[in-house]
Amino acid sequence: MKILAIESSCDETAAAVVEDGIKVLGSAIASSAIMHEKYGGIVPEVAAREQLKCVIPTIEEALRQANTTLDLIDKLAVTIGPGLIGSLLVGVETAKTIAMVKGLPVIPVNHVLAHMYANFVKGEHITFPAISLVVSGGHTELFLMKNEKNLAWLGGTLDDAAGEAFDKTARLLGFGSRGGPAIQEAAKGTAISPMSLPRPIMHDGTLNFSFSGLKTAILREVNKLKNTDTFTDVTIGQLAYEVQESITDVLVNKTLHAVNLYDAKSILISGGVAANMRLREKFNEKLKNSHTICSFHAPPVPLCTDNAIYIGAYAYFRGKSCNWHDITAIPDLSVEDV
Ligand code: KG4
Ligand code: ZN
Repeated sequence: MKILAIESSCDETAAAVVEDGIKVLGSAIASSAIMHEKYGGIVPEVAAREQLKCVIPTIEEALRQANTTLDLIDKLAVTIGPGLIGSLLVGVETAKTIAMVKGLPVIPVNHVLAHMYANFVKGEHITFPAISLVVSGGHTELFLMKNEKNLAWLGGTLDDAAGEAFDKTARLLGFGSRGGPAIQEAAKGTAISPMSLPRPIMHDGTLNFSFSGLKTAILREVNKLKNTDTFTDVTIGQLAYEVQESITDVLVNKTLHAVNLYDAKSILISGGVAANMRLREKFNEKLKNSHTICSFHAPPVPLCTDNAIYIGAYAYFRGKSCNWHDITAIPDLSVEDV
């Protein structure tokens, strides 16, 4: 089954043609990230206007790569939320229009849940039950996956998401809006830190997270160092290292706690923060040294950040087809009620 998937929840416009949930025939992405850089955050109006400009060329490019046309597509899939209303509307209305004209069913997709299906694209064997950690710029969520379709939400962040913590601390360290990738890069080559950041609520026994305290802790350190001659690339690298250690320690510990509680056989990670190499390394190390037999799965790095491939994969494995007039953009779509 060939699905044309459309993603437009934030500042990326993406389209992909995915066959049977695992075979990527074409995938195109346009991003307005660079336009938001000077504002220090995403400007929703600008993002929506760029979505409008990019949506048709992006769909055309995905179809061209797949060497196919709309007439050979079986179903459409589109992100309906959560996300920015102006951005979401562009993808949703485009999908509805194509569906109406071509007489195709549309599968509405929850962007956050879809992230985890990036793990299915490689065609790896996943043993269930699995614990799925979705870590992106806006979400840090743990789910129990009883099988490919059956999901239950277990916990999430009480304040900032892990990606948000990377992005906010990166800005304080002078990396602009390059966030997680900049911290990862700056932390390379450091193996110690002159300070110890907290590991918020790591051992509280719940499956929730809290990351907002990290930016205050980093701000305090930066203010201490700033007026001395010790605020150098070396100390900035050490702070970046410690931020990464703190966030990844918490993510790994909470996920392993969920594995124990539910006797899970696999761990799946996904979302932009899943691209983090230290996070992957820690999961592999912990599982190697543990008596529990549990496999670890992470998508290829380009499939961690926003794209339409996993929207198509989710639609194939878990989506429900609808008539185009029943599809609406829902900016605050819940991830708990799955
Ligand atoms: O999934 P995503 O592309 O967008 C959302 O749905 O939010 O995630 C973006 C987030 C940003 O916060 C970014 O800093 C973070 O993923 N990120 C990383 C890395 N690459 C992207 N965080 C840590 N290490 C990375 N290598
Ligand atoms: Zn995302």
